[in-house]
Amino acid sequence: MSKKNYSRREFVKQNSLAGIGAAVAMGVGPALLTNYGNDSALPAILGGQKLRTKGWQEWPMWNPATDEELLLKVLRSGVWSRAGVVTEFEKQWAEISGAKRCLAVVNGTNALIAALVQLGIGGGDEVIVPPYTFIATIAAIIQTGAMPVFADVDPETFQIDHTKIEARITPRTKAIMPVHILGLPADMVKIMVIARKHNLLVVEDACQAWLAEIDHKKVGTFGNAGCFSFQNSKNIPIGEGGAIISDDEQFMDRCYSYHNYGNPYGTMIGEFGSETVIPGTKLRMTEYQAAIGLAQMKRLQEQTTVRNENAEYLKSKIKNIPGILPYRFNEKVTRAAFHLFPFRYKKEEFKGLSRGLFLKALSAEGIPCSGGYTPLNKMAFLKNTFKTKNYKLMYPAEMLDYKKYMENNQCPANDILCEEAVWFGQNMLLAGKADMDDIATAIDRIHSNAEKIKNQK
Ligand SMILES: Cc1ncc(COP(=O)(O)O)c(C=O)c1O
Repeated sequence: MSKKNYSRREFVKQNSLAGIGAAVAMGVGPALLTNYGNDSALPAILGGQKLRTKGWQEWPMWNPATDEELLLKVLRSGVWSRAGVVTEFEKQWAEISGAKRCLAVVNGTNALIAALVQLGIGGGDEVIVPPYTFIATIAAIIQTGAMPVFADVDPETFQIDHTKIEARITPRTKAIMPVHILGLPADMVKIMVIARKHNLLVVEDACQAWLAEIDHKKVGTFGNAGCFSFQNSKNIPIGEGGAIISDDEQFMDRCYSYHNYGNPYGTMIGEFGSETVIPGTKLRMTEYQAAIGLAQMKRLQEQTTVRNENAEYLKSKIKNIPGILPYRFNEKVTRAAFHLFPFRYKKEEFKGLSRGLFLKALSAEGIPCSGGYTPLNKMAFLKNTFKTKNYKLMYPAEMLDYKKYMENNQCPANDILCEEAVWFGQNMLLAGKADMDDIATAIDRIHSNAEKIKNQK
């Protein structure tokens, strides 16, 4: 892996590819790491024997024997546009997520856009959002015409820092968009208190957080709406796909209408019979996507449990290695999705070995890893957004002063987090305890040899 920060998707793709054609383990038994300092073997990056030649779980998973029956039925039926299978997918996703209603759409980005638009968010509004997220979160806000306002993150949880939200509220603020990033729940209890106090809407970006819970309540059900992604790298991979969940029946009727050209649906009745009711678009999921989704959904509960158990085990194994600071859960988190397993890497404790070289050394041992996100609040696309015709029409010139915007939207904790984060992919957490031991041993080995790796020619 080069020093470049890989995007999450590139990382997951690479990571999964590493599993393809994986050879059998080469007799390197898992070290029983009870504390750090046990493994000082020569690292692979310095010419030592690679710790692990066995691959990791391929992603996405597909088992023809158990997964294909419904898909083939759909393909052979010729009913490919939205019909009963999509409705069944929605029914099951609503049930499993603890919401009254679900609407399946083309992807997570458009789930977010639809939810924001149907909650009345648009030009001239501000939406408070964390900078530690995937670009789609911000893109969705911008597509509605609203202005993203960044609230810094808590580096220990990797989530939006709820104590930083109130200072970002202005008379234009319409909504908070917490992101359960990496599949770890944001502190929804405290965020909802702030939202109620200031009469703000809440759209949860749960695109990486299927079945994650706070006090046994699923994320996506705390705010006005929760949005999910089923893109190929996700814990429920469909290729592309998304969903909105909510208990608000009228809002869900509006979302349905919007995703189907604005045509009448439920309480959304036109004044003149069956004519289009609201400005809409077309975001319908296909029947074959839903058939793939239903096959994937069957595995989700069990896989989520395995990911949680392995994450806890891995955390216990690496937390005593100096310079390795694994994630901390927000209060009352009862389950995470673990789309990614995150920790912070403190190079001071690794003799100044850069994160880039640490990642390279870890990859060389057969442990795929990534440095994760770069700060979104500093990306140039915002400057170009402010130059668009619509933004010039919707905002006063001083709000489109990019320099001023940058000053107001500084997130120093996020800047550091983006430099220190290290991720492992969700598919790695589907392995066994001995595989988690491999990860811990590899980190330990790099720690013991940090000086030599740093000084390698
Ligand atoms: C946090 C977050 N928000 C939104 C999205 C957008 O989802 P999609 O790729 O399905 O459009 C993603 C998915 O990559 C995501 O990770």
